[in-house]
Amino acid sequence: MPCFPCLLKRRQPLAKPSPPSSPPTATTTMTDSYKRKAVIYIIFYSMYTHVYQLAKELAKAVNETGLAEAKLFQVPETLADNVLELMHAPSKPEDVPMITANQLADADGFLLGAPTRFGVVASQMRSFWETTGALWAQGKLRGKLAGTFFSTGSQNGGQETTALTLLPTLAHHGIVYVPTGFTTAHLSQAEEVVGGSAYGAGTHAPPGKDGLTKKEKEIAAEQGKLFAKTVAAQVWGNQLLAQK
Ligand SMILES: Cc1cc2nc3c(=O)[nH]c(=O)nc-3n(C[C@H](O)[C@H](O)[C@H](O)COP(=O)(O)O)c2cc1C
Repeated sequence: MPCFPCLLKRRQPLAKPSPPSSPPTATTTMTDSYKRKAVIYIIFYSMYTHVYQLAKELAKAVNETGLAEAKLFQVPETLADNVLELMHAPSKPEDVPMITANQLADADGFLLGAPTRFGVVASQMRSFWETTGALWAQGKLRGKLAGTFFSTGSQNGGQETTALTLLPTLAHHGIVYVPTGFTTAHLSQAEEVVGGSAYGAGTHAPPGKDGLTKKEKEIAAEQGKLFAKTVAAQVWGNQLLAQK
């Protein structure tokens, strides 16, 4: 057996350190090979269409940035048809496909939308995330980004708690949460009731109200733009790191 000091002697000399490269500055030029459009899945549950309307506003804003491509998906319904009928729920939009868990791995980021149910996120959204165990076990969603949007029937009915009740799930997957903050003055005004918060776009949807207000649409546009930029920055950064 070779002795330890002999092994040490045989070791290669250390490589000469390369001269320090100058740190990048804001004017450092780069090739564009790291750029690609980010893929954002807008995944929602909506019984009376308000959350669906928000989803469409978000998709429009994401696509308008030119930095990302939005795709709309619904989570599967869990209520029986006769219950939906008793609840006067309209039929689901036929042009929006149902998401399956494995598809999540194909996106760079998710905007998750759901109405409030007794102050927490609707169970249909929860049920969908409970199908993601295999992805969780493989860490497939780690480092992806997510934002939230929501709808309540009453003014203080739980917009923020709806977002908050999704956060533990995101944390368990290692998904990075992107709040919107107070990026628009609409969130600080007191002239009219408006949905939305620092956690994302929202709508106040009491029975009889059939559309989003102008301000709610503008808050959604702001979130879509901000989220697209954040996800694109993450995608481009990851591409650059992979080139190293
Ligand atoms: C079972 C049930 C529980 C609800 N709980 C709340 C609640 O806690 N707070 C609230 O403001 N609205 C509540 N709502 C109203 C819904 O949040 C409202 O219908 C929904 O935001 C409309 O969104 P959608 O059109 O996308 O379904 C509840 C509705 C149902 C059916």
